[in-house]
This record gives sequence, C-alpha cells and structure tokens, in this order.
Amino acid sequence: MKRYFVHTFGCQMNVNDTLRMGEVLAGLDYRATPTADDADLIILNTCAIREKAEEKMQSALGRYRQAKLQRGALIGVGGCVAQQEKAKILERAPYVDFVFGPDAIAKLPEILVRARAERVVETAWVDSEEYVFPRADPETSRGRVSEFVTVMKGCDNVCAFCVVPHTRGREVSRPFAEVLLEAKALAQVGVREITLIGQNVNSYRGGISFAQLLLRTAQVPGIERVRFTTSHPHDLSDELIDAFRVEPKIAPHFHLPVQSGSDPVLKRMRRDYTVAEYLERLEKLRAARPDIAITTDIIVGFPGETEEDFERTMKLAEQVRYDGQFSFVYSPRPKTSAILKEAEWGVVSDEVKLARLERLQAVQKQISKERNQALVGHTVEVLVEGPSKTDPARRTGRSPQNRVVNFEGDAPAGSLVEVHVTQCTVGSLYGAQRAVRSNPTVPIAEAVEQVESCVA
Ligand code: SAH
Ligand code: SF4
Ligand code: F3S
Repeated sequence: MKRYFVHTFGCQMNVNDTLRMGEVLAGLDYRATPTADDADLIILNTCAIREKAEEKMQSALGRYRQAKLQRGALIGVGGCVAQQEKAKILERAPYVDFVFGPDAIAKLPEILVRARAERVVETAWVDSEEYVFPRADPETSRGRVSEFVTVMKGCDNVCAFCVVPHTRGREVSRPFAEVLLEAKALAQVGVREITLIGQNVNSYRGGISFAQLLLRTAQVPGIERVRFTTSHPHDLSDELIDAFRVEPKIAPHFHLPVQSGSDPVLKRMRRDYTVAEYLERLEKLRAARPDIAITTDIIVGFPGETEEDFERTMKLAEQVRYDGQFSFVYSPRPKTSAILKEAEWGVVSDEVKLARLERLQAVQKQISKERNQALVGHTVEVLVEGPSKTDPARRTGRSPQNRVVNFEGDAPAGSLVEVHVTQCTVGSLYGAQRAVRSNPTVPIAEAVEQVESCVA
C-alpha cells in the first residue's frame, strides 16, 4: 500500500476537496499518512486568495522538494493556484510532477498514471451543465462530529478584489435531493453537525430555496446543528432570516462579510449593497434570533480607501460589535478588476494598510473579549468534539454561536452537554461540564487522524 499526504491551504472548499481526493486515492490503494516524511505522493491543495497564501504554498513546496530528491515521491499541486497558474507552476518548480484544478479531482487516477511518464497539467473546466458533484463516502466521516456538505461551487459575483470567480468558475448548485441524501448518510455514521458550504450559498438554486434546504437539513434525524458558510449580504433573503426564527437547530451564527464600512469603497469593490442596507439585514437577523452571533470579513487598504473611509469601517465595527472578525490587508490579485484600476483609484501604502489593520484588530479584540466575558457565570450548550488539543486533560467543543469551549468533564465526542463558563480569553471559553443533554448516536473514536490544514 502506498502513502499520500495532502497539505491543505485556504477555505472550507479546499478542506472538503482534500477529503474527496483522499477517497479517490483510497480507491487506488493509497492511505493517508500524517506527515510528508514517508509519503509516496504529496499533494498541495492551494489557495490564491491573497499573495501571502501563495507565498506559504511556495515555501511548503520548497520543503517537499527533498522528498522528491531522496525518495522519488510524486509531487502534485492542486486547488486554486493550480487553476490560475497552470503550466507556470511547472516552469517555476521543476520537481512538480502534476498540476490539477478543482474540477479535475475525479481524474486523479489517470493523472497519476500519466505523471509517471510525463509532467501533467489538467485544469480544464467542466461545463456547468455537465458538472457532477462528487458524492462523499460516508465512511470517510465515521468518527467525525461535524462535517461539511457541498451545496454549490463557483461564484457568479464580480467583487473587484477577488480571484475566486477565476479559480472556481461559474456557480453551479447541487440538486437538493443529493444534499439531503448526503446529510442522512452522514447522520447514520454519527455526524451531528452539518455545515452547508459554498462561496455564496445565498444564491443557491438547486431546486428549492437555500432557506428551505437549511430547514430540511435540520430535520434529518440525528442532526443536532446546521450551519452554513459563506453568504453575500445582497442575497440575504427574508425567507432565510425567518428560517432562524422557526428552526432552533439552525445554529445561531451568521458569517456575513461586510468588507468595508464606507459606501464609496463598497461601490468600487462592486459589492452591490450599502452600509445602511447591510445594517438593516443585521437588525432583522438579530430581531429574528436575539442570541445570534455575527462574524464578518473586512479588507483594509482597498485602492482609494481614504482615512475617512477607514474611520467609517472602524465605526461600523464598533456599532455592530461583531462576535468575531477576519480582517486582511488588501492584496492585489491577478486578473481581478481592482488590479487594473489601482493606479487610477490610488494605491494605499503597505505602512498605512498595516497600521489600519492593527487599529481594527485591536478594537475587535476588545469587543470579542467583552462579549466572551459576558458569558462568564452562564451556561452554554456544547457539542463535544473530543480532548482539547492544548490540554488533553480537558475536553473541547463549540457553543451554538461557534465559540470554542474547553471544559472539565467526561462526555464523549458527539454528546451535547451544558457547560458552566468560569473563565475566558479573546478566543475561547473555559468551564465545567454540568448536565449531559444527549449522547452520541454512534460511538465516535476520538483519535481521528487529521489531514494537515492551515488557513492562509
Ligand atoms: N465568498 C466569500 C469570501 C471568500 S474569500 C464572500 O463573498 O464573502 C474570504 C475573504 O477573503 C473575503 O471575504 C475577503 O475579506 C478576503 N479577500 C478576498 N480577496 C482578497 C484580496 N484580494 N485581498 C485581501 N483580502 C481578500
Ligand atoms: Fe469572491 Fe465576491 Fe464571490 Fe465572495 S462573493 S467569492 S468575495 S467574488
Ligand atoms: Fe478557497 Fe482560497 Fe480558493 S479561499 S476558493 S481556496 S482561492
């Protein structure tokens, strides 16, 4: 039996694609190995969202070069950088054997055969009408508490800063019956939480509305929590907001990237909403589900962003009081519309960008801390994932609002428990287990081999 190792960068799409690669490779008698050191096949599943992500991939690739020289391991580059750079990757890295895009995962068996004789580039798109979503093998998920289910791929939006439409192609929705069948199969192997994933799930068109899809996933026996990511504010329908009102199993967490708190910047970003419209959606969400956690993504230093624009973003962050925020300095990406307009709009210097990022993150840190502090002394419901990675004497899981909770207790992975919160940091809550609300439906092995993953 041969061994493979996949190094995953980027978002939930890539994490899920890595699992699908593993399934294809299992059919070829490969099994996963936890480090690249003894792998016969090393794949980098790459992300192109920011320059930093690409740099991380380049330095990882350099490390794996040794494996090629010493053991003759096959080296492949997949994911979004592969889709965007194609044969250029082979020019830059002579030790790479094959390059394949996200649509070519199912073709791995023939790619691997060809790669023994020649260097391969396989980055053709599959037409939207012909695209078949890979069916997850539920056995891959046995032993997992929480799992992703793909509901769509690609993105039809035109955000000026973003490479995703270039790396993932047009939007295609997965037929709803397939989504529900996968959710049922996962529930039967013990999965208790499902996250429906896509780059823009609100524009789902797989036969029923996205709100209906969420409601129906929540009704699958054995599923306790349903989450989703990611949503674009301009498609956030009243129907989806209502789903939060009626279905408690839809977890009270909404990741709603705002990107900027200034209308002129949003306009140049081609986001298609104003700050007032965004706030109106949030207000409705909070009215429908008062305990809902709201998180966001923000880009600072987009071309033409003035000090005044940035102050508006600061004001928005303080006004919304997000539960969490991912913020980034703007990174110019090939083929995007913003890169062509940068000179005209005005490039923001690295120094200014970094100073703004620091200010924004400092404010968020304070807010996150205050929000967590407010939970000390209260009880939260936790879906147990297993022993805590940092302290094996403790157990870890997540609250409905997606906060990490480390606690003293003995409930097995897959249980829903009540935890009394006694302390907190900016990133997590700490406490002690009280009552067990429900037990896992299928025993869950806790030492699940994890595929290495990092968010770039
Ligand atoms: N589909 C999601 C976003 C996916 S990318 C959505 O529409 O919300 C995740 C985040 O990366 C984005 O929300 C954005 O904040 C950030 N991002 C994307 N392109 C970027 C760029 N060129 N520079 C900096 N950050 C970027
Ligand atoms: Fe990128 Fe915009 Fe699509 Fe999100 S919605 S993936 S930011 S183009
Ligand atoms: Fe995801 Fe990065 Fe591609 S964020 S879709 S892996 S560019």
